[in-house]
Amino acid sequence: MKKLGLGILGSGKGSNCRAILEQISAGNLPAEARLVVSDVFDAGILDVAREFGVPNVYLPPGKFRTRLEPNVEMELERLLQQAGVELVVLAGFMRVLKEPMLGAYRRRIINIHPSLLPKFPGIESWKQALAAGEKITGCSVHYVDAGIDSGEVIARRKVPVLPGDTPESLHARIQIAERALYPEVIAQFCEV
Ligand code: GAR
Repeated sequence: MKKLGLGILGSGKGSNCRAILEQISAGNLPAEARLVVSDVFDAGILDVAREFGVPNVYLPPGKFRTRLEPNVEMELERLLQQAGVELVVLAGFMRVLKEPMLGAYRRRIINIHPSLLPKFPGIESWKQALAAGEKITGCSVHYVDAGIDSGEVIARRKVPVLPGDTPESLHARIQIAERALYPEVIAQFCEV
């Protein structure tokens, strides 16, 4: 079976990236991680890539806080295309994408978010869910558009909010669900 070329982008510790690479290594996901990219120099996700022998690059994001500078985004697209990336997987990448990425990878960029979208987009959504008194929250995988966590939802997984939950305990439980859900959704892209 032909392997789907993945490009994984992240700004943080890389637990979702690790889960994906583990499923590939175990032979459960007919994909190949061709490149890992981070906008944060010392992000754990780059160490995860090195541990699994995946090509990786730190891409200095430029002067904006929430997006990449246009010339940097052009460079990102070039790097991904050059590496043979067919599906762009955002795994804790804390910037919005614009052009040329959205046009070059139309419906080929996905993101995981720690809430049941469309509820609680943005940062620290588990805290938002706790503050709102939700009994059930979870995580969602969605197509990426120009907004913040706003593209069409592909799949969701529910996680109960338990009595006595702290932001940390709830986030940890959501992340366990994320690490199961994301490889499953990527597998759907391998089948088409
Ligand atoms: C994940 O929980 C992911 O859902 C979240 O960042 C974390 C990255 O963790 N993403 C967002 O909030 C996107 N809006 P990781 O680096 O351990 O995979």
